Amino acid sequence: MTTKPILRVLAGEAVWPPPVWLMRQAGRYLPEYRAIRESSGGFIARCTTPDLATEITLQPVRRFGMDAAILFSDILILPWALGQDVAFKDGHGPVLSPIRSEADLAVLNLARATEYAAPVMETVRRVRAALPEACTLIGFAGAPFTVACYMVEGGGSRDFAETKAMAFGHPALFGRLIGLLVESTIAYLSAQIEAGAETVMLFDTWAGMLSPTQFQKHVVEPAKAIVQALNARFPGIKVIGFPRLAGMYAGTYAEQTGVDCVALDTGTDPVRAAALLADSVAIQGNLDPIALLAGGQAMRAETLSILDGLAGRPHIFNLGHGILPQTNPDHVAELVEFLRNR
Ligand code: CP3
Repeated sequence: MTTKPILRVLAGEAVWPPPVWLMRQAGRYLPEYRAIRESSGGFIARCTTPDLATEITLQPVRRFGMDAAILFSDILILPWALGQDVAFKDGHGPVLSPIRSEADLAVLNLARATEYAAPVMETVRRVRAALPEACTLIGFAGAPFTVACYMVEGGGSRDFAETKAMAFGHPALFGRLIGLLVESTIAYLSAQIEAGAETVMLFDTWAGMLSPTQFQKHVVEPAKAIVQALNARFPGIKVIGFPRLAGMYAGTYAEQTGVDCVALDTGTDPVRAAALLADSVAIQGNLDPIALLAGGQAMRAETLSILDGLAGRPHIFNLGHGILPQTNPDHVAELVEFLRNR
């Protein structure tokens, strides 16, 4: 029997007060992260140097006593490890050599990914060994569709038109890319679990951009294949899915993929979403990151509304999207204190 609050919630138990961690809890809003950032190489170097990645992962756990540590890495480390050119440019976000043809796809190599991702697994081992007793280590990967968006587009985009055009116009090519991502994500998450990750989260940031048929094909089916493979290999492993902006599909998504927890984005009403989910499915979320940025009374009122709406349900408190870099760390401390001591 586990006593870790997050694992209890993921097993379907309503724990009060709900345990808390925040998406992007390690990052630029923390002065201790900015100090490492200034004295280290690029972002990929920070993600693949176990000394640095371990320290960065533990910073928010140490400062705020979070109930979970999330591995410091990025969803684009997998395409990088597979052999795609990936760079993180200040003020630009990620820049990738776009995948547009069979020849581009042929460069990607699963065996290479295992080798290049080895330092990430070393970080997982070190973090797990250093964690406080009640703190859960969360591993993660991008979901195939969202990772494919960056791989095909070559970076961020307002509408990911190139990616969606490939899905409609060259379904065989796009299907092979998604298939490769399903297979490599299973391998990548399995390695994290073997190294000590206690649960894993699939980030599907752009899931809500798809038509219903494409959502089924490129969001639900890949997540289902990943969940089934992980469950077969690691009986009892819990999976958190974040189908961002998928709104009314939360119920279908949970039921068909078999995830144990659905992470809700800022715009989703937790009460309405809960009504779509089986009672045993946990809910994670979903304070507006801007309410955290604002802090004070507005933040507390929004937090209370989420807590009240989900009282009695298995719930992990979190944001509806990642912490913004300009957030005052004192607001995070205030939020955690409010959750634990009201
Ligand atoms: O603390 C954590 O949550 C763990 C680490 C983590 C990062 N990115 C670190 C990061 C996680 C889980 C992610 C997920 C991620 N990365 C997503 C899915 C969640 C979401 O936010 O929608 C996406 C779409 C990415 C891709 C990505 N990485 C972008 C678009 C950017 C540039 C924008 C930005 O915020 O700088 C990144 C860079 C990135 N990933 C940073 C961090 C801490 C900033 C790195 C730096 O400048 O030092």
